[in-house]
Amino acid sequence: MKEILLKIEKLKKEKDAVILAHYYVNDEIQEIADYVGDSYYLSKIAVELPQKMIVFCGVTFMGESAKILSPEKTVIMPEALADCPMAHMASIDKIKEIREKYDDLAVVCYINSTAEIKKCVDVCVTSSNALKIVRALPQQNIYFVPDQNLGQYIASQVPEKHFIFNDGYCHVHDEIMIDELEEAKAAHPKAKVLVHPECTMTVIGAADYVGSTAGIIDYATASDADEFIIGTEIGILYQLKKNNPGKKFYTINKNQICPNMKKITLAKVAYALENGINQMEVDDETRTKAVLALEKMLELAR
Ligand code: 13P
Ligand code: SF4
Repeated sequence: MKEILLKIEKLKKEKDAVILAHYYVNDEIQEIADYVGDSYYLSKIAVELPQKMIVFCGVTFMGESAKILSPEKTVIMPEALADCPMAHMASIDKIKEIREKYDDLAVVCYINSTAEIKKCVDVCVTSSNALKIVRALPQQNIYFVPDQNLGQYIASQVPEKHFIFNDGYCHVHDEIMIDELEEAKAAHPKAKVLVHPECTMTVIGAADYVGSTAGIIDYATASDADEFIIGTEIGILYQLKKNNPGKKFYTINKNQICPNMKKITLAKVAYALENGINQMEVDDETRTKAVLALEKMLELAR
């Protein structure tokens, strides 16, 4: 173990590289990462960092967004097959169809989407800035892609706008069932329920707090409560426990695992760094169009 950590440290210096990691990756990756965060934080910091190379321990849309925003940097993905299935659950034809139907329309795109989709939308959002951004948009009609659950949650908080939903979802969050949550609440009656807005509206309706991964960590850390039921991917427990050694955290079911995030291992990080493999590439035509929606997100989320 020690040997591989030393190797990664040495390679980082040699290559002028920095390691970014999402809260869902394996504990040992979060441990060695220079920066760990939610999707919004990681997209922002990737632009600001001075290093020439970013090793992105996350899924494809995260590394792709970093490359789109910082084309001069080399973005390396330790595991090329770590992809988010929801990123592919939106259709360009459907976006065109909705644009023809509504005049006063903004197509709002969750950052969990491909660069091809980002090319034809008006603005990107993440779960930590979606409410702020949607409220700030002048348009009355919002077509929210790809996640129907996040879309419905935002719509419930912004009743003054009209929403059109897509049918995308995250299998990890969508499969958290209300009866499982009720069982967890019965087993831990004093626990606060903290969930991600990719969960269904029924689960969200039974929660004490709804927010991004960083929001959930901040809430638990600031809270006076000692016990929490967590409705998001299990990788978040690493930071929750690290920040709150005296508090207890429970999951709702046994399937709160994103198999793609878990594909990233220390050996793959070391190998990718050493050999410069899996470099993220985005063609110029795609990049110059997709960057507009991402830059608009960074501007409106400020
Ligand atoms: P966050 O932006 O809250 O980190 O969420 C990313 C994600 O993929 C949730 O499933
Ligand atoms: Fe995608 Fe769900 Fe994994 Fe997040 S947890 S990266 S939305 S599959």
